[in-house]
Amino acid sequence: MKHSIIIYASQYGSTKRYAERLSTITGIKCVSRKEAEDIQNYERIIYMGALFAGSVLGLKKFAATVTSQELIVITVGLVDPQDGENIRYVRNNIKSQIPAHLYDEDKIFHLRGAIDYSTMGLKHKLMMKFMHSKLARMPKEELNAESKIILETYGKKVDYVDFNTLQPIVSIL
Ligand SMILES: Cc1cc2nc3c(=O)[nH]c(=O)nc-3n(C[C@H](O)[C@H](O)[C@H](O)COP(=O)(O)O)c2cc1C
Repeated sequence: MKHSIIIYASQYGSTKRYAERLSTITGIKCVSRKEAEDIQNYERIIYMGALFAGSVLGLKKFAATVTSQELIVITVGLVDPQDGENIRYVRNNIKSQIPAHLYDEDKIFHLRGAIDYSTMGLKHKLMMKFMHSKLARMPKEELNAESKIILETYGKKVDYVDFNTLQPIVSIL
C-alpha cells in the first residue's frame, strides 16, 4: 500500500465528515489543509475539497506544493455528481487549478455535500442571494443542474452526505 495522506479543505464541515469517514475506513491519516505539513514524505495525496463557484477550495495553492506524488482529487458540492454537464465544468476548473502532469481523470471523484443557510457566512449568503434573484427570473427550461439546486435549496438546510458513495474511492486505494 502506498504511503498516503488525506488532506481536506472544508468551510462548513461536510467535506471534513467525508474525509474523516474515509480515514476510518482506510486507516489513512487525515488532516485539514491548514495542518498539512511534510507532504513530501507521502507517495500519494488524497485531496478532498468543497466546491465554491465551481472551484475546489484551496486546490490551486495546495497543488503548487505537490511534486512527484500521486494526486487524487475529490470534490464535495451540492450539484448532483451524476450530472454530466456539471462534471465537465468542474473538471475543466480542476484542470486550471493544478499542473498538467497531475491532472488524471481516473483520479478525480465527486461527492455530494450539504448546505445550511442558518450557519452560512455573510459573504456566501450575499452571493447566494444574488444568484437566487437572477435565477428566479430565468425561464425554467434554461436552468441547468446547478441553477436548479440553488433554487430548490435556497434558504434551507439540506444534507446529501452519503458515506456509501465513498466506496469507488476506497476500492482504488
Ligand atoms: C457561495 C457558495 C457557492 C457554492 N458553489 C457551488 C458550486 O459551484 N458547485 C457545487 O456543487 N456546490 C456549490 N456550493 C455548495 C457547497 O459546495 C456545499 O455546501 C459543500 O457541501 C460545502 O462543503 P463544506 O461543508 O465542506 O464546506 C456552493 C455553496 C456556497 C455557499
